[in-house]
Amino acid sequence: MIITNSSDAAQLLRQGKLVAIPTETVYGLAANAFNSNAVAEIFAAKNRPFFDPLIVHTHSMEAIGTIAQSIPQQAYDLFTAFAPGPITVVLPKADSIPDIVTAGLPTVGVRIPNHPITLELLSELDFPLAAPSANPFGYVSPTTAIHVEQQLGAKIAAILDGGACQVGLESTIIGFENDKPVIYRLGGLSIEAIERVVGRVELSINQSSNPTAPGQLKSHYAPSVKLYIQGTEADLDYSTCAYIGFDTLHPAIPQANQLLLSPTGNLTEAAQKLFAALRTLETMGVTTAIAAVFPNEGLGLAINDRLKRASA
Ligand code: TXA
Ligand code: MG
Repeated sequence: MIITNSSDAAQLLRQGKLVAIPTETVYGLAANAFNSNAVAEIFAAKNRPFFDPLIVHTHSMEAIGTIAQSIPQQAYDLFTAFAPGPITVVLPKADSIPDIVTAGLPTVGVRIPNHPITLELLSELDFPLAAPSANPFGYVSPTTAIHVEQQLGAKIAAILDGGACQVGLESTIIGFENDKPVIYRLGGLSIEAIERVVGRVELSINQSSNPTAPGQLKSHYAPSVKLYIQGTEADLDYSTCAYIGFDTLHPAIPQANQLLLSPTGNLTEAAQKLFAALRTLETMGVTTAIAAVFPNEGLGLAINDRLKRASA
């Protein structure tokens, strides 16, 4: 059921139900983060393994006090600079957050999403929302309410429609190890922007399923289409192949099979359109596709990361 009123969503969430919520990055599948039964339903609906921890969402820095034990100065500086926005900060977990949310870790990912309806929803509630991306496990994240409806509509109480996501890539995840900032996932906030606030960061981008160092798993976004990163394809018949490009058409692939994410060469626009384009591939009647290598700067790093996972 698609709804548009945050109070209706709040009512369902208070009853322990699952509601998909819009954010600026991707749609999330939300439940009361203090209610372990409700959170267990998230894992069931997504078919997600319990070792993969969830991000907890709230509306203000003050409210982080109910989620995390403490906020180190660098985390405070990051929230001040970028929240609400596409960043998740890993902090020591408060006792009020059940272990199922964090997969037993002593830390919790905290995020203040930048979407007006969801900020309103969060401020109506007296609990934060645990929310992974609202896709079946292993699939590409949804950036519209329809994407959620198509895959999870039958399993959840409602989808709060907030339009198409403006950023289109999941949040950048950052934590601290011995007081040094470490990036665990590339995402919708660039490394360059983060380094302007906390200085040099280390990248620790895992692909593991090790519960002590959660990483992102390879995505099988479109089982019917085999994706290659441009340059790694060998002996493909270009005439039956699709292309996801940045601003320049592929010389050998039929133009009707090509999706250019930003004809003007804008990485922000390309990020916004990436996940919808991966979904479109499945409807194009092709069995193979090639994705361009995007510029390795700004959001281009996260775009290349997602394409690499999707091609794995
Ligand atoms: O933009 C986003 O972050 C979206 C929206 C809905 O907020 N959420 C999202 O959640 O992408 P999800 O579950 O698809 O990805 C969350 C990832 C986990 O797979 C895990 O790698 C990492 O966040 N994570 C969560 N808690 C963590 C922790 N305590 N330490 C390290 N990584 C953590
Ligand atoms: Mg996800």
